[in-house]
Amino acid sequence: MNIILLGPPGAGKGTQAQHLVASRGMVQLSTGDMLREAKDSGTEMGKMVADVMARGDLVTDDIVIGLIREKLEGAKGGSFIFDGFPRTLEQADALGQLLDEMGQSIDHVIELRVNDEVLVDRIVGRAEEARLAGKPVRADDNAESLKVRLLAYYKQTSPLIGYYHAKGMLTAVDGLGTIDAVKDEIAGVLDG
Ligand code: AP5
Repeated sequence: MNIILLGPPGAGKGTQAQHLVASRGMVQLSTGDMLREAKDSGTEMGKMVADVMARGDLVTDDIVIGLIREKLEGAKGGSFIFDGFPRTLEQADALGQLLDEMGQSIDHVIELRVNDEVLVDRIVGRAEEARLAGKPVRADDNAESLKVRLLAYYKQTSPLIGYYHAKGMLTAVDGLGTIDAVKDEIAGVLDG
């Protein structure tokens, strides 16, 4: 089973993906994590995307599609959770083609719905927690970058809701409940 977790910054995509990895042995493919790894290890690509990410804008389609292509080519089948990918219609088309070439498809697209006020609280809260624990704070976890991230979501990513709805793949899940409540709702969709 392959699924996409779709939703704005702070909606809980990463949190829910990790639960699915632990509970179902699925493989999480997070383009945000891949890009941060590239940045932290100082690769040329990482240096190139660092400013764009810190600002909150989307990295170019060719870079993220390339990252996903590499992961899928190295994989011998499996059950993937696409976390934060696709984020544009071009990425969605590319993913469809890549899976098609592997004889696979997307089974469910789960849209995590959370309002902006809660998203801001979660992101600011995460930054605060990291600071108190003496851990590194994500360069884009601040009020200014969050505004840009939200704009990018509504402008470039939210059209995917209609795109996947038209294909009959989309289920919206209330992302405002507790982490366990959201986990149960997602399980209900997957086991449907
Ligand atoms: P990415 O890393 O994907 O970040 P994001 O989408 O902004 O999402 P977050 O990781 O902040 O949130 P999340 O939805 O995963 O929530 P989480 O579970 O962490 O992307 C970062 C950047 O990389 C982009 O801005 C862009 O520049 C670039 N990029 C990545 N992919 C790209 C692509 N495909 N194309 C182009 N550019 C790309 O939870 C957040 C917080 O809330 C946590 O503290 C968590 O504990 C808490 N929380 C979660 N669920 C709940 C709940 N139910 N109740 C209470 N708290 C909760």
